[in-house]
Amino acid sequence: MNKDIDMLETAMKADFDVYKIREDFPILSRNIREKPLVYFDNAATTQKPKVVIDAISNYYNNLNSNVHRGVHFLSEAATKEYEDIRKLVQSYINARFKEEIIYTRGTTESINLVASTFGRANLKEGDEVLITGMEHHSNIVPWQLICEGKNAKLKVVPITDEGELIMSEFENLINEKTKIVSVVHISNSLGTINPIKNIIQIAHKHNVPVLIDGAQSVQHTEIDVQDLDCDFLAFSGHKMYGPTGIGILYGKKEFLEKMPPYQGGGDMIRSVTFEKTLFNDVPYKFEAGTPDIAGVIGLGEAIKYIRSIGIEAIKTHEAGILKYATEAVSDIEGLRIIGTAKEKSGILSFVFENIHPHDIGTFLDRDGVAIRTGHHCTEPVMRRYNVPATSRASFAFYNLKEEVDVFVKSLKKVVKMFG
Ligand code: ALA
Repeated sequence: MNKDIDMLETAMKADFDVYKIREDFPILSRNIREKPLVYFDNAATTQKPKVVIDAISNYYNNLNSNVHRGVHFLSEAATKEYEDIRKLVQSYINARFKEEIIYTRGTTESINLVASTFGRANLKEGDEVLITGMEHHSNIVPWQLICEGKNAKLKVVPITDEGELIMSEFENLINEKTKIVSVVHISNSLGTINPIKNIIQIAHKHNVPVLIDGAQSVQHTEIDVQDLDCDFLAFSGHKMYGPTGIGILYGKKEFLEKMPPYQGGGDMIRSVTFEKTLFNDVPYKFEAGTPDIAGVIGLGEAIKYIRSIGIEAIKTHEAGILKYATEAVSDIEGLRIIGTAKEKSGILSFVFENIHPHDIGTFLDRDGVAIRTGHHCTEPVMRRYNVPATSRASFAFYNLKEEVDVFVKSLKKVVKMFG
């Protein structure tokens, strides 16, 4: 596997010029505390290429107007951009219909939308919702809220010491009471890549729909919702080089059409009287109020940018960085990696017995190295490994092996100081 990565890296070198790519990201050339920035907090949010920043600025400079609400030139032009990007998202994840793409504020809102509306329509007392032990809080709390209101139960698939799902437990837990399975594709705190196609196949044998939390995956690996046959997919713009405040919910039309609206307001209606409101068709039924138009435009540009590099090249480069970093920290005394699944994405979470992650984060910051420390909004994962927090380096396609060297050197200094 490692040899494969090396060979692939060599093969793609001709096209993939990481130094040139870095020039597209203005922030990557700035200094932090007089040191070159080493940005290893990409799972929290990614940096933005200039084309994304410019597209947002161009929208406000030249196109600003509301969508679906005017017959004037600007409104029609903004509406066209907004709807064209819906088609671009559709093609990025290979959805069957553009109506299956709903604009939201991000992964969190996408999951809340499904939990609240699918849950409202389909859950009753005694029913079960099945999630896993490695979910982000945003794929736990929305289900808890709806389960509480409906007297339904939340069931959790446990994970191994390596951070892999115990699939036999998944098969044991899914039953005729299960109304939906909601599972993360790539864990933000462990890096585990879950076998979602297999999970979806098993769930469908029981006639149970599946939501995939793709927050940490759509920017790192190809996603084909028709091939996966997932029923819902949630993801965020800001983790895929786009702006904050915009995200996507993909849902199969057959489900979306039956689900009640999420929020009430403008654009989600067909007609309103004080006695009764008739709702708009999907996706507009779920898009109440003036949306984040600039966010959509930035997201569209981010998708075009990712495509210009190519997801295969991204995958290969990031796998190389993860392998290099994992090997580089392996001789640091006392360092324990949390999350050692066989299938892993570019996330390196680690702990030391006697050094608190916040101290590590603070000292690395002095060398210009940005990592995240804490529970990463996955408190149950921390409890599973009996740690209060971890330090987490998370990689993107613009990261360099030289940056890993800076990170490791800085980490060794911290260890020496506390040791
Ligand atoms: N969920 C994001 C992270 O993992 C914020 O850091």
